[in-house]
Amino acid sequence: MTLTVGSTIDSTEIRVRQDIPAVLGTRVPLVTGGETGYANLDHAASAPCLAAVRDAVDAFLPWYASAHRGAGFASQVSTRVYERAREVLRKFAGARDRDTVIFTRNTTDALNLLARALPRHTSVVLFDTEHHAALLPWRGPNVVRIPAPRTRLAAVAAVERALAGCPAGPRLVVLTGASNVTGETLPVAEIAAVARRHGARTALDAAQLAPHRPISLTGLDVDYVVLSGHKLYAPFGAGALIGRADWLRAATPYLAGGGATKAVTRHETGVGVTWHTGPERHEAGSPNIVGVHALAVACEQLGAHWDALEAHEHALLERLRAGLAAVPGLAELRLFDDESDRTGTVSFTLDGFEPGWLSAVLSAEYGIGVRDGAFCAHIATRRLAGQGAQAVRVSLGLGTTEEHIDRLVLALRQIVARGARWTYGRPAGRWAPVPDPRPLPPFLAG
Ligand code: ALA
Repeated sequence: MTLTVGSTIDSTEIRVRQDIPAVLGTRVPLVTGGETGYANLDHAASAPCLAAVRDAVDAFLPWYASAHRGAGFASQVSTRVYERAREVLRKFAGARDRDTVIFTRNTTDALNLLARALPRHTSVVLFDTEHHAALLPWRGPNVVRIPAPRTRLAAVAAVERALAGCPAGPRLVVLTGASNVTGETLPVAEIAAVARRHGARTALDAAQLAPHRPISLTGLDVDYVVLSGHKLYAPFGAGALIGRADWLRAATPYLAGGGATKAVTRHETGVGVTWHTGPERHEAGSPNIVGVHALAVACEQLGAHWDALEAHEHALLERLRAGLAAVPGLAELRLFDDESDRTGTVSFTLDGFEPGWLSAVLSAEYGIGVRDGAFCAHIATRRLAGQGAQAVRVSLGLGTTEEHIDRLVLALRQIVARGARWTYGRPAGRWAPVPDPRPLPPFLAG
């Protein structure tokens, strides 16, 4: 059964508009008794599964077998599914003909793979406000972490200055497409053009951009794109690194093992290995065929609905920001002073309220899921949230309804006016209702 907005919430699918794909939803218990439809406002962490992805996985599972390893018919089907996904991702990312598509676990995995594949002495330039997945994998003396400037124009100039100061040799600019803290987008094409002028390549962390906007390696003239299935409504453990093949072809395989090898021979003193030079070089071990299939189906679904998705998100984001602006003591976090396109992610602090406590109350009393803390972007959050170095983050997606946003805004106003209706403590180091009478779902209970 499908929920359309305005109907009673008693279903596991949420279709907000007929022209955007439905996602799986659920109902959650409240500490004050009863239950409510889950207002999932935490898409930036992990997006719910698309109904179409669930259906595609269901349809594939009877055929599931090894890929690239078996003569059985199901193995051939599985191989076809896996390699079809590469082509879907290539198209989704607007890749060039000679670009490679390597499947990974997620964005963190993809960026660590790229970091291991850099030629020796590559200079790496990035902002220090990046998500840890983009901030941390780079090693060596030639890594320049630029303090993020307050405007986009200054951001472009800062990258140009950093590149001008790099030693001769290979160079890489690493850049997020949209901040996972503030939803603000970066001037990717402008920075990629500067990088190109200085002989540098650009790697785009599209984890937070790809679920919201079309991305294109060719259109943006970037060299690599990384993304995560679990943020793209395909929560089955697959992600991808897409981009120029040469450095990856020359690099030591990310994992040593079966699938990455063409031939292995025994020598007196050990073994000799001939490694593949295509994407399988970095995909050793049995691949995650289900995850990759799910990711491809999600990409096809998003790709077929961009106009409606963007219109939906834009309207909800306006409603959210207007609602939050009227909550006394609430301050929205911003990286940049100038306005830009932004995805449906907003972080804020609320005077006098700890973010962890606030998100526990929103969950326990209102059935709202948000994230609190520093969002694996500690430097950015500390800089923007000030003393507490923590914030609450609301992130919208395909399953978000106007009711979810109105419920959040009303909840915040009520909490500011009269506090919580329950008692809270930190029994395991995190704010939680004490006692917590909410029953676990039947499949977990007992
Ligand atoms: N990177 C994810 C987030 O921002 C986990 O929540």
